[in-house]
Amino acid sequence: MAEAIQSRVMEKSDVEEVLDLLRAALGEPPLLARTPQLLAWKHYDNPFGESIALVATADSRIVGLRSFMRWQLRTPSGGLVSCVRAVDTATHPEFHRRGIFRRLTEEAIELATADGVDLVFNTPNAKSGSGYTSMGWIEVGRIGVLLRPTRHFFNLRARHHSASLTEAVESAHWTRAPLGRAALGLRTPRTDDYLNWRFGSHPTARYHKFTSGAGQAVVRPNMRKGRNELLISDLFGRNSQDAIGDAVRAANARYVATWFSEDTPERSACLHAGLIPIPGVRALTLMARPLNELDVDVTSMSSWDLALSDLELL
Ligand SMILES: CC(C)(COP(=O)(O)OP(=O)(O)OC[C@H]1O[C@@H](n2cnc3c(N)ncnc32)[C@H](O)[C@@H]1OP(=O)(O)O)[C@@H](O)C(=O)NCCC(=O)NCCS
Repeated sequence: MAEAIQSRVMEKSDVEEVLDLLRAALGEPPLLARTPQLLAWKHYDNPFGESIALVATADSRIVGLRSFMRWQLRTPSGGLVSCVRAVDTATHPEFHRRGIFRRLTEEAIELATADGVDLVFNTPNAKSGSGYTSMGWIEVGRIGVLLRPTRHFFNLRARHHSASLTEAVESAHWTRAPLGRAALGLRTPRTDDYLNWRFGSHPTARYHKFTSGAGQAVVRPNMRKGRNELLISDLFGRNSQDAIGDAVRAANARYVATWFSEDTPERSACLHAGLIPIPGVRALTLMARPLNELDVDVTSMSSWDLALSDLELL
């Protein structure tokens, strides 16, 4: 007889078992080593608040996880939307297709609704996308890629990031947040608490900050399929294309890549720095489920003001 499945709130003492479950279900990419520190960074240290996290158990063994990270988005009219991001979700392979993902997600939605959360959003993978659609999520649209090859593009020996990038530049830490700008759509408020958590204390990813005049670029060197790439995670201030140029010169990357919403100053800076949108590429799919009446149409891509930093490594 199949074991009865129970559900409960995740406790801090569940961390090791939950990490084992995530490894069994999702594997372990090198940059996202599934450590207790990464779990704590995401679900407990987040300045927007502690996550809503539920586990499913069978005979007191953890066989499912569903977590919603707390988030906030500023609207163009100055309002603040209370959000959760549906991030880690995993069902142990031995327990697939028994309704665990659906049950935990629906229970987490109930908790979020009772807590006054307005909106759930995420960028699910192909395995979970159809499940979300069947639970009322709406596909908002495609997250693409902006890219520019560098002069190292054909240099097969350029396999490592230059030491000047990893040693000589500022690590991404702020004593005071850079001058922000108004939200043009739903936009993460860049407070100093947020910036220092997001870029300064990520347990596995190293971010670097380049400042040029009034512009700043926060970048992350990365390896993809044996190629060293430079990811522009976020941009601040005017003329940040000059900061992009400095970062590209300091790195040994074969290409530089990023993504920002259309009609934003950051996307213009990228275009000025020579990055171009790659036609037809779908890096991610943005999905959303409103839990409250909102004065913004969250189902339209044009209502969002996103940067790569909003999408990667969460
Ligand atoms: C995706 C995952 C969480 C689904 O867990 P699960 O407990 O087996 O899912 P459920 O039984 O609750 O299924 C709910 C719905 O999701 C969809 N779904 C689940 N697994 C699916 C699959 N392999 N292919 C297509 N649709 C699937 C279906 O719509 C399903 O409804 P149905 O059974 O009525 O058709 C699980 O397969 C998993 O852990 N995969 C590896 C980790 C992962 O990819 N996580 C998502 C990260 S965004």
